[in-house]
Amino acid sequence: MSDKTLISPSILSADFADLGAEIRAIDAAGADMIHIDVMDGHYVPNLTIGPMVVKALKPHTKKPFDVHLMIAPVDPLIGAFIDAGADIVSVHPDSGPHLHRTLQAIKAGGAKAGLVLNPGTHPNVVDPVIDQLDMILVMSVNPGFGGQSFIMSQLDKITTLAEKIKHSGRDIILEVDGGVNPITSKQCIDAGATALVAGSAVFKGKGSYADNIAALRHPIPAPRAV
Ligand code: DX5
Ligand code: ZN
Repeated sequence: MSDKTLISPSILSADFADLGAEIRAIDAAGADMIHIDVMDGHYVPNLTIGPMVVKALKPHTKKPFDVHLMIAPVDPLIGAFIDAGADIVSVHPDSGPHLHRTLQAIKAGGAKAGLVLNPGTHPNVVDPVIDQLDMILVMSVNPGFGGQSFIMSQLDKITTLAEKIKHSGRDIILEVDGGVNPITSKQCIDAGATALVAGSAVFKGKGSYADNIAALRHPIPAPRAV
């Protein structure tokens, strides 16, 4: 478990005409991971990045590629994203017919496995597969677009999931994605998040990338007494 909150800027809000330079810039600015939003125009109403682009971007940083797959069916493309350089592959439970098999395929390919919960997804979806997970990704907006407002009802879900992770005894990253800014980031960290995705707040914030990333970091609260 990291002693600091991991910041994973989403390149969805970067300059798509110059993605290599954008990745080098956020690496130098202190990003811990690179969040890559893969959308298929089907599972979500937007179309973004495929494995060829991920492969082209890989040499631009040594930071882990945190690849968020919003595609269905997801199974046929998992191998291609791992081959392209995905270090963590996160999938939605409704993006393939057999979640357990999908997670097995990610691990068999040598990547870390993440499970993504939409705002309308119950936290108990993690229970049958928690032994396979390296990351739980809580969507605090509905997936498909950057620049949406944080849905406050997801804070309780973050707390619930933090407790499930603690109970599992496993080292699982608890990441939050959507509408994360310097204010909501503190609420997420206080609720138990250990990693934050931010697109607009990093790439379209008012400061430098380094300042924008630093503004998302807050002290991790001391464990609550039981
Ligand atoms: C939405 C994506 C997010 C998005 C976040 O479907 O999963 O990663 O890029 O963008 P912001 O930080 O602008 O809400
Ligand atoms: Zn994402």
